[in-house]
Amino acid sequence: MGSLMGRDFLKIEGLSQDEIYHLISKSLEFKRSPLKWGMRLKGRSVALIFHKPSMRTRISFEAAAVSLGAHPIFLREDEIGLGEREPIADVGRVLSRYVEAIIIRTFAQRIAEEMAESSSVPVINALTDEEHPCQAIADLVTIVEKKGRLAGLKLAFVGDGANNVARSLLMAAATTRMKIAIASPSGYEPEPAVIERARSLSGSVDQMIEVFDDPAQAVDKADVVYTDVWISMGQEKERESKVRAFAGFQVNSELLSRAKDGAIVMHCLPAHRDEEISDEVLEAQAGVIFDQAENRLHTAKAILSAVVGE
Ligand code: CP
Ligand code: NVA
Repeated sequence: MGSLMGRDFLKIEGLSQDEIYHLISKSLEFKRSPLKWGMRLKGRSVALIFHKPSMRTRISFEAAAVSLGAHPIFLREDEIGLGEREPIADVGRVLSRYVEAIIIRTFAQRIAEEMAESSSVPVINALTDEEHPCQAIADLVTIVEKKGRLAGLKLAFVGDGANNVARSLLMAAATTRMKIAIASPSGYEPEPAVIERARSLSGSVDQMIEVFDDPAQAVDKADVVYTDVWISMGQEKERESKVRAFAGFQVNSELLSRAKDGAIVMHCLPAHRDEEISDEVLEAQAGVIFDQAENRLHTAKAILSAVVGE
């Protein structure tokens, strides 16, 4: 297994199966013994740059940094003026001299990549328009906890197949040999090139990755049913057209009756109740969904400590 030390964490693609399993087991170790691993970053700092709102990601990384002994420094877009007050590359070069890692939530993946190219310290993607890799690791941890394994399970994603959460999940499922079925309305499927790349990760087993425009077909005999908001941050202007396009894609008890008995439902949160998920299903599955949210803390520690050096 290649070490993650000193590496950027910008996307799931490019991580080996062993590296993903290493992060899962490290997260579970942190969960079992939160204090055992502390103080690796004593007296150091990490920077968090957020261009979009966040609750889970910001708090979990700030809390994770403190648990590892580091001081988290949070910067909002209006404070840093990335690309406006000064070029991204200059921010990366300067920040690298102050902190041990840079955690960034932004719009274009390219912004996170430019930051990584100019930084000599690891850059962690805390969500871009394309990827949400930290979420995907927490999702896998949750599936392992609830189902005991990953390989061979069927994961159905119902919603915007072109969004960040879907893409990271697709790549994570493919790398860990889960079967994944994505149900999206026409025009919101994952890009064909993304599906191709995911297929190459899964060892070219064609039936492992399927795309449907019918949620019932995707959810058929699924072990895990996953959904995310229809309107991602930055897409607010598309609300009306997306709500129209996604009608019939709600995860509710009727849709869930197609899944396997004992199937779990996951949501990265924040959720829009009675939009992409019925309030009834969300509450019935709260034991899974809020564990999933909790796991963001344990995976933040695992990811941060892996890239700064365990
Ligand atoms: N799931 C997630 O990333 O939540 P936040 O947007 O609150 O960070
Ligand atoms: N797809 C959502 C995920 C939020 C955690 C968004 O980008 O807003």
